[in-house]
Amino acid sequence: MNFKAIIFDLDGVICSTDEYHYRAWKRMADGMHIPFDRTINNRLRGVSRMESLEIILEKYEGPALTEADKQRLAQQKNDLYRESLKEMTTDDLSEEVWDTLETLRGKGLKLAIGSSSKNTPFILERIGLGGYFDAVSDGNNITHSKPDPEVFLKAAEMLGMAPADCLVVEDAVSGVQAGHAGGMRVAAVGDAALNGAGDWNMKSIRELIHIVG
Ligand code: BG6
Ligand code: MG
Repeated sequence: MNFKAIIFDLDGVICSTDEYHYRAWKRMADGMHIPFDRTINNRLRGVSRMESLEIILEKYEGPALTEADKQRLAQQKNDLYRESLKEMTTDDLSEEVWDTLETLRGKGLKLAIGSSSKNTPFILERIGLGGYFDAVSDGNNITHSKPDPEVFLKAAEMLGMAPADCLVVEDAVSGVQAGHAGGMRVAAVGDAALNGAGDWNMKSIRELIHIVG
């Protein structure tokens, strides 16, 4: 397929932090008596923290919230989420993902991260991948989150690659849309694959090895 680089989403692709996001939002929503389930949670994949909060608040029926209230709720969720992240170790990097990364690198491909999360550096450090990737583009260097292509275009730019030479790997439908909007092809896993959103819809990330040829 002649790709020169692969840009990986982080949460739900490299590690299962998507489940920790869900549990933290669930606790915050339960505390506010806001209905929240896994179907709504799928809409938060790839979306920034504050935009995620707005999606959850669509079902909120209490007194009006100020901007300061919203900041406090987002902070509360992030504090809960960070508690889970602190428990992460190199055991949270699966063999499947590690083998795949190493095999792809062995084929001469550049590897990058393209994630909406501001917690990206901390997570990569926890799972033993701090300093591993050739470029890391994340929630700290973007102004628009997925489905806007900014995070992937910045990753490609950091690598010095044309978008058409990059393959994006995503579990979020919004992330697949972001990759396509940036002129990249996308291999999907998880929720995005179940939705048939990707150019390839994988059951396992190992399939990347065959996709890149
Ligand atoms: C994305 C997740 O990777 O990061 C979203 O899929 C999350 O669910 C977003 O909202 C922002 O994460 P953080 O860690 O900056 O709150
Ligand atoms: Mg994801």
